[in-house]
Amino acid sequence: MGGPVKHPMNERTFPAADAHRLEKLERLQWLPPDEIMARIGPVQGMTVADVGTGTGYFAIPFAKAVGREGKVLAVDFQKEMLENLRRKLSASGALQNLVIIEGEAAHTTLPENSCDLVFMSNLWHELDDDAGVLREVKRLLRPGGRVAILDWRADLVPPPGPPVAHRVSLETLRLVLSRHGWTVNYSENVGMHSYLIIAGLTEILSRHAPDSV
Ligand SMILES: C[S@@+](CC[C@H](N)C(=O)[O-])C[C@H]1O[C@@H](n2cnc3c(N)ncnc32)[C@H](O)[C@@H]1O
Repeated sequence: MGGPVKHPMNERTFPAADAHRLEKLERLQWLPPDEIMARIGPVQGMTVADVGTGTGYFAIPFAKAVGREGKVLAVDFQKEMLENLRRKLSASGALQNLVIIEGEAAHTTLPENSCDLVFMSNLWHELDDDAGVLREVKRLLRPGGRVAILDWRADLVPPPGPPVAHRVSLETLRLVLSRHGWTVNYSENVGMHSYLIIAGLTEILSRHAPDSV
């Protein structure tokens, strides 16, 4: 919390100059937000952090689904991406419950214990600091909260999507999560090129355990 937002971009970071690719109509066919959200289950009234939100491809449908009582915190570390999201919102009508936040996945600047769901789409393979990000997710989640991670299947080749060498398989991510004290409740391929993993904190790991992530 606090301090300047760190921007540790790397060679896998999705360039803001390519933001239009996130908005291609065909993407709605191979990665339909409604289908992904149905797998996650009802979110009405929840606070959802969409980390690595990009142009808000998921943040906007989530903001509609959480309704007036809920909130979506759309976080990204590229100002230009967030500008795209702002422009999209002003063109389509602002959503009162969608808050745009410049933040880094391991240092979101969001308050602790503030979220029911942390969602990350096509972000995981771009991250360098898995442990730091999972520690941050844990800090953000309220008791019973969940993390939902969607990313590119490693058993398929592009296009679309990043080179296979950049991808993290569903099996690897499952292992990373369980190594860091998470219980995977759901893991399936979704859409045409992706997988989705949903996890909660394993009960024996208390929020205050100093060594756990
Ligand atoms: C491939 S885009 C996906 C955008 C959006 N989630 C979607 O599915 O349309 C990945 C996004 O994650 C952001 N990102 C990458 N690394 C990040 C980090 N460490 N912290 C915050 N955002 C990050 C990038 O700026 C980019 O907007």
